[in-house]
Amino acid sequence: MKKRRIMVPIILLALACPVIPGFDSGLKVRCYTVESDAVQAPVRVALISDLHSCGYGENQRELIDAVDSQNPDLVLMSGDIFDDELPDDNTEQFLRGVGKRYPCYYVTGNHEHWSGSGAFLEKMDILKECGVHRLSGVCETVSVRGTAINLCGVDDPEASFTASADPARDTVSFLQQIDQVRKASENGNYTILLSHRPEFFELYAAQGFDLSLCGHAHGGQFRIPGILNGLYAPNQGFFPKYAGGEYHKKRTVMIVSRGLARESTRVPRFYNRPELVIIDIV
Ligand SMILES: [Fe+2]
Repeated sequence: MKKRRIMVPIILLALACPVIPGFDSGLKVRCYTVESDAVQAPVRVALISDLHSCGYGENQRELIDAVDSQNPDLVLMSGDIFDDELPDDNTEQFLRGVGKRYPCYYVTGNHEHWSGSGAFLEKMDILKECGVHRLSGVCETVSVRGTAINLCGVDDPEASFTASADPARDTVSFLQQIDQVRKASENGNYTILLSHRPEFFELYAAQGFDLSLCGHAHGGQFRIPGILNGLYAPNQGFFPKYAGGEYHKKRTVMIVSRGLARESTRVPRFYNRPELVIIDIV
């Protein structure tokens, strides 16, 4: 009887050992390299996705320092940077920390559009004040060490569902925006499409964008390394195809960030640390 009393906690501890590290939600830097003949010199992109106004240390120092440590040429934000329930403070601090020190570009995610008309416009004002460019069905051309790059961005499809609530919002549909940016990017430059949604990868590949950067899937929330790349993702369901990682179709590469959401999520992340994504285009 005494022996059994000792064995039970030992067995429970042994079972818990591989589980406990799975709940590590410390920030991770994940790096990708994408090759292209269209760039004259390497271009480094920092991708921030699905921050959901979560906190990374005092004044967001941990996340800002992580970006600084990578010395990116561009900081791109693929939506849900704000949250529809949490206050904007953490996001605002992050944007103030990077907005005027790097060329920063942003597209909306579904949660920004779910915020309601007034709150949505307040978030867009914060972006503007911090020097972050919103790409809403448009492309801007930037030059990085002699390479002209088209930065194109589309709003989350939720924009058109909620447009009638706010006449100031873009009423152009997602598909129309994709068509607009494809036409605007037909100038021979390397083209990056910034879009919140990874589930439309076939569409992005059909349009011939060089690189699509997305988020939204949160890594499928639960992962088992080497076995399961995500249990569930919004708009993809169980066992999502595009939960996080690098994907290829035709000439298009898509990189999906697992995002930075922590305390905003109802269920904890498992073997799915929040990530700052760094992409070297070489
Ligand atoms: Fe999202």
